[in-house]
Amino acid sequence: MLSDFSHKTGLKFHSTELKIIWDHYHFSYIPGFGNECASEDPRCPGALPEGQNNPQVCPYNLYAEQLSGSAFTCPRSTNKRSWLYRILPSVSHKPFESIDQGHITHNWDEVDPDPNQLRWKPFEIPKASQKKVDFVSGLHTLCGAGDIKSNNGLAIHIFLYLFTAALSLLLVPQKGKLHIYTEFGKMLVQPNEICVIQRGMRFSIDVFEETRGYILEVYGVHFELPDLGPIGANGLANPRDFLIPVAWYEDRQVPGGYTVINKYQGKLFAAKQDVSPFNVVAWHGNYTPYKYNLENFMVINSVAFDHADPSIFTVLTAKSLRPGVAIADFVIFPPRWGVADKTFRPPYYHRNCMSEFMGLIKGHYEAKQGGFLPGGGSLHSSMTPHGPDADCFEKASKAKLAPERIADGTMAFMFESSLSMAVTKWGLKTSNCLDENYYKCWEPLKSHFTPNSRKPAGLNGALLP
Ligand SMILES: [Fe+2]
Repeated sequence: MLSDFSHKTGLKFHSTELKIIWDHYHFSYIPGFGNECASEDPRCPGALPEGQNNPQVCPYNLYAEQLSGSAFTCPRSTNKRSWLYRILPSVSHKPFESIDQGHITHNWDEVDPDPNQLRWKPFEIPKASQKKVDFVSGLHTLCGAGDIKSNNGLAIHIFLYLFTAALSLLLVPQKGKLHIYTEFGKMLVQPNEICVIQRGMRFSIDVFEETRGYILEVYGVHFELPDLGPIGANGLANPRDFLIPVAWYEDRQVPGGYTVINKYQGKLFAAKQDVSPFNVVAWHGNYTPYKYNLENFMVINSVAFDHADPSIFTVLTAKSLRPGVAIADFVIFPPRWGVADKTFRPPYYHRNCMSEFMGLIKGHYEAKQGGFLPGGGSLHSSMTPHGPDADCFEKASKAKLAPERIADGTMAFMFESSLSMAVTKWGLKTSNCLDENYYKCWEPLKSHFTPNSRKPAGLNGALLP
C-alpha cells in the first residue's frame, strides 16, 4: 500500500496534477481469469526478457523480481507467481516501523459472543469538515474469525472515505469510484464492480468524492471461480469478464518520499522509500490483481418450483481444505426473473451452519424492503435464524404468481463463511450504526396454523377448496 496521492486525499480532486492525470487516463485491461499473461508499458517495447525470466541484465536495465502467491511447490493448477521488471526492486526501502492501527483489528475477543441477528444502518462517512481520513484511518474492522499467523480465517472491513494499503482483499465499493494504482497497472473500479488485490501486491487508491464500501480479507488462500458441476462449462461469472490491468509505470520522486504500509501479522508498519512503488515497466505471470463488473454475472435460477440454494449466485470462492466448504464465498443477488410456480419466492426462513454477512450496494433487498439500506449490513451468525420480515411474508404468501422481475436496480451481496465470526467493539458500539430494533421486523409474524384443515389459504385468505 502506498502512497503519495492518497495523502492529498480530499472530497474534491486532490490537485491540479491529479485532475489532469484523471482526465487523460484511459484504462486498458487484459480479459480472463487466472491466465498466464504478459504486459509491457508501451513506452518501453521489448521490456519483457525473451526466453528466460532472470537474464544477467534485463532489457532497459530493469531489475527482475518474482512475486510468489503460492508455495513454490504447489501443483501446477494452483501455482501462482508473476515476474516483475522494475526500475528498482521493492526491497529499496527504509526499515518498517510500527504505526497506529486505527480501527483495524484481528482481535476476535474484544466483546462477548452475541448470537443475535445483527443489522447496521449505513455506516457514516466522515464529513468534509472533520479530520481528513486516509485508507488506514478510514478502514474499520467489523467482524472476522481465525488466525492471521496460521493463514486461516477472514476479516470483514468497512472502508469510509479513502485509502491506500497492501493487503489481500476483495473490495466492494458501494459509493464513489476508486482509482487504483497497482504494481501491475491501473484500474478504475466503480460501484457494482469489485476488484481483488492479492496478497503482497502494493497498491494505492484515490477517490474523488465521498466513498464507502466493503472489504473481505481472507488469510492464506486465493479467490477462485466456483466449480460449475452439472451447469457445465459456461455460466455464473464467466472467466472472460475478469479484467487485469496492463503494465504502467511511473518514474518520479515526490517531496518527502513514498510511504509503503505493510500489514504484517495483523499489525501495520510503514517504511519510506524514494521511488514510486509503481515502477514496474513490464510483467508476466498468473498472479495479478483483477476487477469484475457484477452486471456480467450470468444468473441461473429455478424455472419450475422451489429455490436453488443461494450458492447458485457465487461469484468467487476462497476454499478451505474441506471439499465444498469455503473460508469465504462472495455471493450476489442480481436482477433476474422470478418464475417459480406454486412457490414462496422470497428467500426462505433458515438456519445455516455458515456465517452470513450481507451488504447492499444499491436498491432494495427483496426480503427486507426497509431497514436494510445501501451502505449498511447485516450478520446472521452460525445457526442464527433469519428470513423475510413479516410484511414480506404476508405479501409473498398472497401474491399472484406470474413471471416477474426481481431486484431490478438492486445489488445485494453476501460474504458467507464456514468460520463463526466475532463482531468487533467498533461494530457493536463505536460505529453507532447498529440497529437495535432489527429483531422487531419478525415480531409481527403471526400463526396461520389451521389444525383442522391442511388446505392452504387462497389469495383472499380463505381456505382453498
Ligand atoms: Fe441466510
